[in-house]
Amino acid sequence: MIEVCDAAKWIENGARRVEILKEISFAIPAGQFVAIVGASGSGKSTLLGLLAGLDTPSAGEIWLDGVPIHNLAEAELAAVRGRKIGFVFQSYQLIQTLTALENVLLPYELNVEGNGLAQARRLLGEVGLGERMDHYPIQLSGGEQQRVALARAFVADPPIVMADEPTGNLDSVNGRIVLDLLLEHNRRAGTTLVLVTHDAEVASRAGRKITLKDGRIVEDTQPFSPPRKTSTRRDGTAAHKEGKNG
Ligand SMILES: Nc1ncnc2c1ncn2[C@@H]1O[C@H](COP(=O)(O)OP(=O)(O)O)[C@@H](O)[C@H]1O
Ligand SMILES: [Mg+2]
Repeated sequence: MIEVCDAAKWIENGARRVEILKEISFAIPAGQFVAIVGASGSGKSTLLGLLAGLDTPSAGEIWLDGVPIHNLAEAELAAVRGRKIGFVFQSYQLIQTLTALENVLLPYELNVEGNGLAQARRLLGEVGLGERMDHYPIQLSGGEQQRVALARAFVADPPIVMADEPTGNLDSVNGRIVLDLLLEHNRRAGTTLVLVTHDAEVASRAGRKITLKDGRIVEDTQPFSPPRKTSTRRDGTAAHKEGKNG
């Protein structure tokens, strides 16, 4: 489960404070497929970055399966990210000097025990790149690179997959292929999928849609109330020790 409690994000720009997200609260139960939608500049990528622990909120709390990630130092945060989250970027973010297979194996080298080679090969086969495992990103089309990025996001079996406009750089045919692979994996593995998109057709395939406007949630088609936490402290430290039921 992902829980966001009154989160905000602002940037101090000289004397000026630029507010990017305000009063964000929602929860996503395990296994749900949620689309986060809104116009360009509405704060979608910033919000997804907070959920993934790639960025920290200026205020408020973010909990991933009971872990208060707003409160963690970078090393701990990286460990939680590695265990819990597979992330897919709009621009693929493959390492150019590594082959497709080596890119997919990256999460294993960082934090998963055992040999992920068989898993990486299997996933590359599933996304249709069984014959191209030794190719470098520059030798692959955009759609193929994004399919490598999908295999990399899935390889460590994370319970949560997050994707930020994963079809945004692709034509409609390749966008459809990537989206189908993402949704099929979500169904089969039973993972939580949080998908940022400004494409209404893509969003229509999600069970739930959260709409952002000017940094606020203006619509949530299926609000979910998590079991109540007794601790409402916002300093995080105590909440961490007490745990979610403390
Ligand atoms: N590091 C930053 N510094 C200043 N403004 C930022 C920063 N990151 C994002 N913003 C601003 O915050 C708003 C939301 O950005 P973003 O989350 O990327 O929106 P979206 O993904 O919905 O297009 C935009 O107006 C953007 O310019
Ligand atoms: Mg964005």
